[in-house]
Amino acid sequence: MSSANFEHLFSPLQVGPMRVPNRICETTNTINSSMMPGRLDEHFVAHHGAKARGGTGWIGSETWLLNSPFPPEMPDEIGLSVGFASHQAAYQDPAFAEDMSKFCDEVHSSDAVAIVQLTHLNSVWSPSPVPVIGAQDYTPHVMGEEEIEFCLNTYADGAEIAKNAGADGVEIHCAHETLAYSFLSPATNRRSDQWGGGPQERVRFVLEALKRIRARVGDSLALGIRIAGTEFRQGGYDNMEMREMLYCIGEAGLLDFVDIDAGHCWGAPSYVPNSYYAHAAFREFGKAAKADLAEMDPKPAVLFTGRVNDPVLAEELVRDGICDLVGMVRAGIADPEFANKAREGRLAEIRRCIACTRCIDEASEPATFPYTPTCSINPVIGKELLWEQQYQMASTPKNVVVVGGGLAGCEAARVAAMRGHQVILLEQGKRLGGQLLIAARAPGRDSFEDQVYFEENEMTRLGVDVRLQTPVDLEAIRALNPDAVVIATGSTPRVPNDIPGIDLPHVVQGWDVMQGKATTGDRVAIISMEDYYETPCVAEYLTDRGKQVEVFHKSVHLGSDIARYSIGMVLKRMEECGVNVHPNLMLKEVRADSFELVSSWGDKTYRREGFDSLVLVCGSVPQHGLYDQLKAEGSIAQVYVAGSAWVPRRMAEATSHGASIGLVI
Ligand SMILES: Cc1cc2nc3c(=O)[nH]c(=O)nc-3n(C[C@H](O)[C@H](O)[C@H](O)COP(=O)(O)O)c2cc1C
Repeated sequence: MSSANFEHLFSPLQVGPMRVPNRICETTNTINSSMMPGRLDEHFVAHHGAKARGGTGWIGSETWLLNSPFPPEMPDEIGLSVGFASHQAAYQDPAFAEDMSKFCDEVHSSDAVAIVQLTHLNSVWSPSPVPVIGAQDYTPHVMGEEEIEFCLNTYADGAEIAKNAGADGVEIHCAHETLAYSFLSPATNRRSDQWGGGPQERVRFVLEALKRIRARVGDSLALGIRIAGTEFRQGGYDNMEMREMLYCIGEAGLLDFVDIDAGHCWGAPSYVPNSYYAHAAFREFGKAAKADLAEMDPKPAVLFTGRVNDPVLAEELVRDGICDLVGMVRAGIADPEFANKAREGRLAEIRRCIACTRCIDEASEPATFPYTPTCSINPVIGKELLWEQQYQMASTPKNVVVVGGGLAGCEAARVAAMRGHQVILLEQGKRLGGQLLIAARAPGRDSFEDQVYFEENEMTRLGVDVRLQTPVDLEAIRALNPDAVVIATGSTPRVPNDIPGIDLPHVVQGWDVMQGKATTGDRVAIISMEDYYETPCVAEYLTDRGKQVEVFHKSVHLGSDIARYSIGMVLKRMEECGVNVHPNLMLKEVRADSFELVSSWGDKTYRREGFDSLVLVCGSVPQHGLYDQLKAEGSIAQVYVAGSAWVPRRMAEATSHGASIGLVI
């Protein structure tokens, strides 16, 4: 396929004073790629710069928080720190501006444009005494005139610093949980003075901020806002009201672009939509805005964002008049080079985002320290500089045998083959993919199969000798005469053997159910001893087949390891499927007609009956027997164990582990 097939996507667009080289936009994503608090270090430049080099035309990088400093007369704990959070940029520090300048040079060297998002988060102060985020229980401080004045001016301050650093555009963040949003929303703005009222009055704060930016920087920067197409919140604005507000803002003639998304940062829907949402599900909001703004002069460009992971869809959105520019954030996290690959017709080489939301979950609630950006399928993310240093072609090509074609095995094979090794990949199943194939069978998770297609395509492209339906033992490996072996034989479901009755015939494994290897009766009890997606996926798989499901879960709530951007949708789906969840319970004993549970935190026991089947979702056990044998035997120079065969964790860990082994062989 040639780039002519993407003629809309790769045509440049003039947005105010800025010429955007194509329609692909990295809207702002605060993935915390800098390792230095308050600075934009070389990791930041490597991370976002890779997207510019990879062909993304618009680089929104990470938000600038204007919260710090608060006015001197109202010191707050936030005002005392470097930034709002340790990894956030302190935009007023001259060193930060210098970093930004270097970053802009990097972006410009790829012919892309750099956009700065200006954000006031508002957990502590707000137009009215109403919690801004539904998840918060505290009443914010109500802003007075002086405080409003102070905040308005910081937008102009931020824009001026951005301009001097070489940015091409700025965007006022008026969506999500920001201060500007809380002025726009009827749910959070209950004021009766000049800042509140109907839709045309509530836009005053945003209009004032835009005016002040224009007064400070003139027409030298492209100026826009990010706004939600609808609030999805009780008492919030709907799309008609949003259109009225946007029209009113547009009429002032200050806008060069409007960046539209939908959803909030907790609950459902989330503005970082996971695989449960259709691609570009909220595209109608873009289309309506485009129609409303069409007659304006100047006519603001419309940017639409939300689960677009594919250049074919992006092309359609621009061609069909849904939007002028397409936000593709996670598409670029999964594959920073996807735009160049599309332009060059290398579509099969694109690693498509599977919308697992590991990136935002990790960025919003880091599980690791020091924090690095993470992606389930792209092992390079957050480690760009390390890869740059370590990646080299093999000086002597080796014969490498990889056993197991799950994520870890495929990544080890892929990276080793890229480096010039001769790789044989042995897989006992009919397809590559391992656990991904099981996960992809759950409702709303079919996008996980995209990664299987990617690995299959890569194996062909790189000449990896893939041998399917090939069970392996020590002898079979020796017969291949390898210099290096990677054992990536995965894990098997854990059976809590110490529980009496666990081997009764009506007790089956979740993985077996999902693969059609085990069946259940109509009334199913899921015994859940994991806190991520597996239990909800198995539950939904069963309700989809007409089963009545109750979950007995070991901890405080189902999916307690799923961060706030995604958990809402998971729990909503459980509600809609009619799955009943009983938390804080562990299995104690199974009998033919009943089972006994014990409190996770005390000794109290409970008896349950009336279930036809018990389905276990209790984690998995590593399978490293072959590795142990090879190590003990000692005849092969390099032997590695990868992914779940070492320790069963999540996708990102399997990907990263396999790829790292491919890097050092
Ligand atoms: C890790 C991460 C951090 C984000 N941070 C911000 C942010 O600071 N400001 C913002 O407006 N949107 C933020 N977003 C939302 C993105 O701009 C975008 O709207 C969202 O990812 C949906 O687009 P996609 O489906 O192309 O990924 C973030 C998204 C991710 C994945």
